[in-house]
Formats: sequence, structure tokens, C-alpha cells
Amino acid sequence: MRFQAQRVPGKGRGKHLGFPTVNLRVPEGLSLPHGIYACWVRIGNRTYPGALHYGPVPSFGEEEPSLEVHVLDHVLDVTPETVEVEVVRWLRPVLAFDSAEALRAQMEQDVEACREVLGLAADRVSRVAAELRRKNASFRLHRFSQSTRTAFEAARALGTTPDRIVKSVLFLADGQPVLALVSGAYRVSTDKLARACGADRVRAADPETVARLTGFPAGAVPPVGHATPVVVFMDDALLVADLVYAGAGDPNTLVAISPQDLLRVTSARVVELREAP
Ligand SMILES: Cc1cc2nc3c(=O)[nH]c(=O)nc-3n(C[C@H](O)[C@H](O)[C@H](O)COP(=O)(O)O)c2cc1C
Repeated sequence: MRFQAQRVPGKGRGKHLGFPTVNLRVPEGLSLPHGIYACWVRIGNRTYPGALHYGPVPSFGEEEPSLEVHVLDHVLDVTPETVEVEVVRWLRPVLAFDSAEALRAQMEQDVEACREVLGLAADRVSRVAAELRRKNASFRLHRFSQSTRTAFEAARALGTTPDRIVKSVLFLADGQPVLALVSGAYRVSTDKLARACGADRVRAADPETVARLTGFPAGAVPPVGHATPVVVFMDDALLVADLVYAGAGDPNTLVAISPQDLLRVTSARVVELREAP
């Protein structure tokens, strides 16, 4: 089912929850049961993947039905006046959460479910695999039924230690995107990274910027295959292991690769980036 709707102002909570939404006027005669849906959102001449909420907002005590859509993995640079929504699949009923944190965690799962339903998860992993193949890397994909978003979760899923997990963390160095590869056992020292790239100011990119610049959700950023070119730095401690595991573009897939191949395919500069534990 498909409908067109006009944008109306929201309450501004979505941004704080980490899932900004475009709020819509409920079109007359809309025949859609209340619930959360995976959808496509057409804005102007572009189509984006989306997560749609239609119904009351019981978590904030609102009974009036709200129609709103979160656009996945993109930051809209214009505020649309009208959008067209193509509803793809019902995911769950609207529920009452007793904290913003619980709602946020559920929305994170909804967004993942949307990625699955809309076929984006497989797409992204294929993009990473294609890029690695193009660069003649020797690698293996590991897909898990549980999340491997954090280094701890990834290590647990593999039955290994976090030092073999490669964290790919996006930073902005004087505004320029820089990807730091560091073992899951450590944090990145922004001072060391700033020195390595000769920048005055280095800060971690927020999730929206990560999605926009890399084309991947934060927590699933792979070392290669990004939407825009990024300079890569690699911590020298990663070279110690014979095999390491990096994100493969989706929150439950890892790619096993030798650190030497990882270095070659990313053209990374090897430096010490890790914060003393
Ligand atoms: C994918 C998705 C799922 C949502 N699920 C619920 C829900 O189960 N219960 C609820 O009270 N609100 C839910 N909401 C609505 C949020 O509470 C709402 O987006 C947030 O309060 C922001 O409102 P605002 O745009 O008016 O600022 C959901 C929104 C989205 C995009």
C-alpha cells in the first residue's frame, strides 16, 4: 500500500532518541492498522529506506494517532513538504515503554528489522565482499544470529578474545573523515590520531555522520567499501595476530582477514593509536 502525506511539525523528541522522524498529516481515509512498518520513502526524486510509526505514542502519554517516518542511514539535507510512503511490511504493534532508553533500544531493533525486510543487510555485506574480492584479499564471512556490533559481542560470538576484533571507528579530523582501525581490546587515543593526521581537533563522528559518510550504520562499519573516500589509520597492535575479524557492513556479520591483507586493502598508515589501558 502506498500513500502521500504532508509534513507537519513534530515534538522534536525523535532527534534526542537518535531516530529523527518526519512527522506527517494522516491522509484522509488512510486504511492502515496502527503499528510499526518497514517502508520505502520517496522524497522528491529519491527513494530512501524507512521505518514507519502509525498510531498513538503511549510512551509519551499521547493517544492521538501520530504518523511519522524515520529515514534509515541518511541525513536529509532538505526538509520535505510532502513524502510518498510505500508500506512494505508490518513489524509489530505500537507499545508503551516506561523509559526513553527502552524505546530507543526497541527502535534500534526495528531499524535492523527494516534493513532485513528491505534487503539492505545482504546488499551491504555483498558490497564489502565485492570490494575485498576486487582487491584480491583472502577473507571469509561469518554470519551470526546474534549481534556482533560491539567488540565484546563479536568476541563472544566467535569464542575469541577482543584483541582479535577490529573496531573501525570514524572520526572527523579538522572536519575531514578519518577511519581508525584498532583492536577491540583498546580505545582510540584522539591525541595520537590527531598527531598522526596532523590535525588540531579530532572528534568521533556521530551516528548520523557515520551513516552518511560510510553508507553503513554505526557499529557495523567495515574497513572498506565506504560511500565516500576516507583516510585509514591502523594501530600497530593489530599486526600481531595471524587473523583478525572486522565488521562486514551489517551488525551481525564479521569478516576474517589477515592483518597484512587488511593493511593492503585499506592502504592504511600504521601508527600507534591505542590509548594506554
Ligand atoms: C520505528 C519507530 C518505532 C516507534 N515505536 C514506538 C512505540 O512502540 N511506542 C511509542 O510510544 N512510540 C513509538 N514511536 C514513536 C516515537 O515515540 C516518536 O518517534 C518520538 O516520540 C518522536 O516524536 P516527535 O517526532 O513528535 O518528536 C516509534 C517511532 C518509530 C520511528
